[in-house]
Amino acid sequence: MTSNTPLQLLGGISVQQFLREYWQKKPLLIRQAIPDFQSPISPDELAGLSLEEEVESRLVLEHGEHPWELRRGPFAEDTYQNLPKRDWTLLVQAVDQFVPEVAELLEHFRFLPNWRIDDIMISYAAPGGGVGPHYDNYDVFLLQGYGKRRWRIGQMCDSESPLLEHADLKILADFAGTDEWVLEPGDMLYLPPRLAHFGTAEDECMTISVGFRAPSASEVLTHFTDFLAQFIPDEDRYSDADLTQQDDPYQIQSDALVRLKKLLAEHMGDERLLLTWFGQFMTEPKYPELVAGPDIDENELLNALEDGAVLVRNPSSRLAWSEIDLGLLLFASGQSRLLPAELRDLLKLICSADALHQDNLGQWLGNDEARTLLLELVKQGSLELADEE
Ligand code: SIN
Ligand code: CO
Repeated sequence: MTSNTPLQLLGGISVQQFLREYWQKKPLLIRQAIPDFQSPISPDELAGLSLEEEVESRLVLEHGEHPWELRRGPFAEDTYQNLPKRDWTLLVQAVDQFVPEVAELLEHFRFLPNWRIDDIMISYAAPGGGVGPHYDNYDVFLLQGYGKRRWRIGQMCDSESPLLEHADLKILADFAGTDEWVLEPGDMLYLPPRLAHFGTAEDECMTISVGFRAPSASEVLTHFTDFLAQFIPDEDRYSDADLTQQDDPYQIQSDALVRLKKLLAEHMGDERLLLTWFGQFMTEPKYPELVAGPDIDENELLNALEDGAVLVRNPSSRLAWSEIDLGLLLFASGQSRLLPAELRDLLKLICSADALHQDNLGQWLGNDEARTLLLELVKQGSLELADEE
């Protein structure tokens, strides 16, 4: 498949056209993006997940006295028995980390960088349910999983857009609708960041949101400079060996600014450190407590593989790789490793394979660096040993 092959998932346009005309720019409604689509999770299973301690879930209720109410999970069985018949929504975060069939949906989005994907959030709404008009700072594909949902889209927003007074929910005070559609299972709506939208359940329905992530400029600056600072010795300071006498000793002259800009540029311009930081930052797990590995040794790992065990990615971990002048970097769950260029195919395999086993690892198991790397990833919890595929 090339980037100009028409794709059903994108409504018959190519990846190239989608990226050029829609991505981060304007919404796209796609009827039957996935034909005959059957949700990989049922409403009952979704409600079941919301009872689990490690799962992040919310309930949004809309009712007379307090128009919008937010409750945070985990919930109890009786929570659902006591809910009204209408006008509420259950939202469950990162369902891809808990239900492999949901994670498989991400295969449809391989035309975008994997490290831009945040998670798959799934909502279940009783008739009339919705979370109110709002905007998100991220791109999202809203895939209708079950039942019908009416989506209305409106104006572009930003942090100045007026919101209703609510401690926890960011609901827009004004919504200027421009278009609306009723989505049925398999239909999908792509929304660029900051576009106002408002979904309401026509009947009992489920919506699968494939959400993306993009660090804010402020996050990039604060996190990168914190990271950089660890490598800068104390004696590396503002310096002015070129100082000449100035007229007024109280004035901060423009030459001080020139020296400061030079100092910043020297450090901020370090591409190796910038890439190392970025890869670590973008692969930090959403729930770090779910990434922990066993204390095993190389022999135990090799024996297990020999006995037919497979290595699978921990669904809560994130992996990415990159090239630098010195070799390759593998990023796994917030950590980076510098590796020789010969390991390129192994890194690609580790990042993309459903499972690693003796067959696809083949000759890599005879390579010391490759074995050490696999062992480290297992001990760190990014890869997990499983009995079979
Ligand atoms: C929902 O599925 O109800 C909300 C998704 C969204 O608007 O981001
Ligand atoms: Co939204």
